[in-house]
Parts: sequence; structure tokens; C-alpha cells
Amino acid sequence: MAKTVITFGTYDVFHYGHLMLLQRAKGCGDRLVVGVSTDALNISKKGRAPIFPENERKAIVESLRCVDHVFDEDSLEKKADYLREHKADLLVMGDDWRGRFDELSDICEVIYLPRTPAISTTVTIEKIKAS
Ligand code: CTP
Repeated sequence: MAKTVITFGTYDVFHYGHLMLLQRAKGCGDRLVVGVSTDALNISKKGRAPIFPENERKAIVESLRCVDHVFDEDSLEKKADYLREHKADLLVMGDDWRGRFDELSDICEVIYLPRTPAISTTVTIEKIKAS
């Protein structure tokens, strides 16, 4: 039976670290489903809107060969519902989230992959501002 992998993120100012995470996540199974966090969730989480709006961030992620389906992540509290809804067999997150989703392991397998070093949306925005 096909193995469904699920992951979540903002994917704002899309960069190489995002691509590596998504490609490696797909490599862990057959089908990759990605929850892209909404603008409202980011505002409530980080106190600011992403640079690019959710429809554009979703369009970029959806266009990748390694991604099979995207959906709106509009609450951090609904992870368990999303896993069930999308019939996830495996939750993959970057290791900046290590330990944070272990309680979901009664729904599906949970793994954390190492982040790509030295790149992030925040660092990229700072670099652009400083240039
Ligand atoms: N990610 C990664 N390597 C990086 C940056 C991000 O593997 N260098 C992963 C994260 O661990 C997460 C996914 O990509 O699983 C989406 O991350 P996101 O939070 O959208 O991007 P960041 O670049 O980490 O954003 P920020 O700087 O705003 O925290």
C-alpha cells in the first residue's frame, strides 16, 4: 500500500533548505502532502504576515515535482486532525521541531530530519535588508 508522508511549514521566500526538506520527505514514502500555514496563523504565531501571501506560497509548493497535495494549515492545534484527514503514515518535520510532535506518534510515525545549515527565511530577509 502507498505510504503517505505529511509535513508542515510556512515556506515563505522559498529557499534551498525548503526544497531539500520536501525532497527528503518525499523520499521517505510514496505520496507527499504539505500543510502550508495560512497568513492568519503566521500573524498569530510570529506577530507578522509572511512576505508572500498564502495563495502564492501554496502555488510554489504545489508546483514542485516532489509534492502531491497541499492544504491550508490554519491552526497549530489541529495537527492530529490533519494527520487523520490526510491518512498520513509518517509525519516529517525539520529538527528545529525535535520532540514537539512526539505525542502524535500514536496516530502515525514521526521523524525529524536535519535542517540544511546556514539558510532560513529569516536570514534571507535580513540579508536582503542589509544589502
Ligand atoms: N527547513 C530546513 N532547513 C532549513 C530551513 C527550513 O530543513 N535551512 C525546514 C523546516 O525545518 C521546516 C520546513 O523547512 O520543516 C519549513 O520551514 P519554515 O519554517 O517555513 O522555514 P524557515 O526558513 O525555517 O523560516 P523562518 O526563518 O521564518 O523560521
